[in-house]
Amino acid sequence: MEAKSKSQNMKSTTCTKNFECPICEDREIVVEEREGEVWARECTCKPQKQINRMFKQSGMTEEQRKIKLEDYKISPQTKDMFKMVKNYIEHFKEIQESNILNKGLALIGAYGVGKTMLMCAIANHILSLKIPTMFVVGPDLIADLMSAQFDGGREVFDNKVKQLTTVQVLILDDIAKEKISEWVQTQYFRIIDARYRANLTTLFTSNFTFDQIEAKMGEAVGSRLFGLTRDHQVIVNAPNYRISGKYEKLYL
Ligand SMILES: Nc1ncnc2c1ncn2[C@@H]1O[C@H](COP(=O)(O)OP(=O)(O)O)[C@@H](O)[C@H]1O
Ligand SMILES: [Mg+2]
Ligand SMILES: [Zn+2]
Repeated sequence: MEAKSKSQNMKSTTCTKNFECPICEDREIVVEEREGEVWARECTCKPQKQINRMFKQSGMTEEQRKIKLEDYKISPQTKDMFKMVKNYIEHFKEIQESNILNKGLALIGAYGVGKTMLMCAIANHILSLKIPTMFVVGPDLIADLMSAQFDGGREVFDNKVKQLTTVQVLILDDIAKEKISEWVQTQYFRIIDARYRANLTTLFTSNFTFDQIEAKMGEAVGSRLFGLTRDHQVIVNAPNYRISGKYEKLYL
């Protein structure tokens, strides 16, 4: 088994390959000789490759990485959500460069209204600005952290948490859908609190209201999620979907 995989490796390194960039053969560096001296310079393909890498590492599927705001069909029910998202995208750079504490955005509403789709459109816009962005689905995030803690060990787990707490833009899709335990609450608190304190941009979608999120994830997480997105929150009014409780007055 070992010998076989070695020979396969050798084969792949010696065979000729179709390079995306024939100039640098995908090394992103061009080495040139000028007047007897060797110079290395960045290849012109590097900026685009960096963006492509960011897209690939974003956590979105290939399909999701193609979603644009223009793909979204507006209905009377969703026009306000669309308007806010459009406005957010148009002003994202200013928001990002400002010192405000609530740079994030929250889309709350029933399933199937296009919350995930709009978040992908936002993520794609932000990534095109070369801003590192991570898109994670709540239940997947928790499963991922659990397997990191229990199978990967301390270092793997810490690295994952560090990525989530330091990435410039974090998008949490379908938050509060996961089965909540004390452990889950603790992980969310660590991530959300660190991002809150570092004033990092955090966006999320949920089909639970802020009050329900708070009841599920705890007051500390709920109130920080509210604070992080305060200026850009939409509750999509779908049938049988009502806001209630302490945050209700903010939407009247
Ligand atoms: N307004 C819309 N225009 C175009 N496609 C939509 C729209 N709303 C939802 N969809 C599509 O319907 C499906 C469900 O949307 P999704 O974004 O997952 O909804 P949610 O996250 O609110 O549950 C997806 O395939 C999405 O692309
Ligand atoms: Mg969704
Ligand atoms: Zn190149």
